[in-house]
Amino acid sequence: MTQKLPPLPIYFANEKSSRQSQATVDIRDRGLAYGDGIFETMFVYQGKFPFWEYHQRRLQKGLAFLGMTFDKALFEQHCESIFEYLKNNPHTCIVKLIVTRGESARGYAPTSTTANFFTSINAFSQDAILNQTGCSVHLCKEVLAEPVSWAGLKTLNQLSYVLASKERIETDFDEGLVCSSKGHIIEATARNIFCVKNGQLITPDLSGVGVAGVMRDVIIERIAAELSIELKLCSLTPEQLLEADEIFICNSVTGIWPVTKVTGFGADIHQRPVGAITRKIQTMAQSLIEA
Ligand SMILES: Cc1ncc(COP(=O)(O)O)c(C=O)c1O
Repeated sequence: MTQKLPPLPIYFANEKSSRQSQATVDIRDRGLAYGDGIFETMFVYQGKFPFWEYHQRRLQKGLAFLGMTFDKALFEQHCESIFEYLKNNPHTCIVKLIVTRGESARGYAPTSTTANFFTSINAFSQDAILNQTGCSVHLCKEVLAEPVSWAGLKTLNQLSYVLASKERIETDFDEGLVCSSKGHIIEATARNIFCVKNGQLITPDLSGVGVAGVMRDVIIERIAAELSIELKLCSLTPEQLLEADEIFICNSVTGIWPVTKVTGFGADIHQRPVGAITRKIQTMAQSLIEA
């Protein structure tokens, strides 16, 4: 018999937990005022985080880059409450952890603050259709300024992706692609992008801009190696993308979506079937999640 689990969401703010999302944030919080912070959105499979170490690594990089002062014991206590909750309630769900620099007086300059930790545990309903049949993507007009010093990190400053997503929801497309100000394809609005050409896996180099996703890292560091697929990180031009044999986009929550239709590059609609290499990568990613 399947266990009946309590409903989600549930919220954690520093050392407290609550069913009330409103009761948790100070109006002076710098995350709210300036986007001064970082976040992680993590998939949880039956109470376990398949890629916790990868999320931790990006989080630690973000904390170090922003030079945030935080109370290590409080962070550990915060994470422990989440682990404990999920151990007792093994949901398949989405955990969003936000770390802000904390509260300060008005003004951009960070004064002596201590980071705040906010987590929400949210319900997840898988729409497996796009993983199977593939998705359509459209090029967004919104571009990402390049280079930025926080390239690769997942900061709370996400206005370009908000505007690109706003464009996307005004269309029938499943995702939007975003280019850099130099005209290179960087990623999708909430996913990274890969393509396959002559058996070689190619993904944009994100040293100038973009979010270096956990699923992207899993593919680069584990899956490509285990499947012996040659991998290249480089600038990806629209022409290279359109000439690719296979394209897929990915993130750590919805996994891998094959791309079967690309538009927005001139008048043509570019269609392709779901590729064999994409399917192999998808299968291995799923097995890592369920391991
Ligand atoms: C802009 C952007 N790029 C890439 C990703 C993929 O990141 P991850 O694989 O860590 O979920 C995300 C995730 O939300 C994102 O927002």
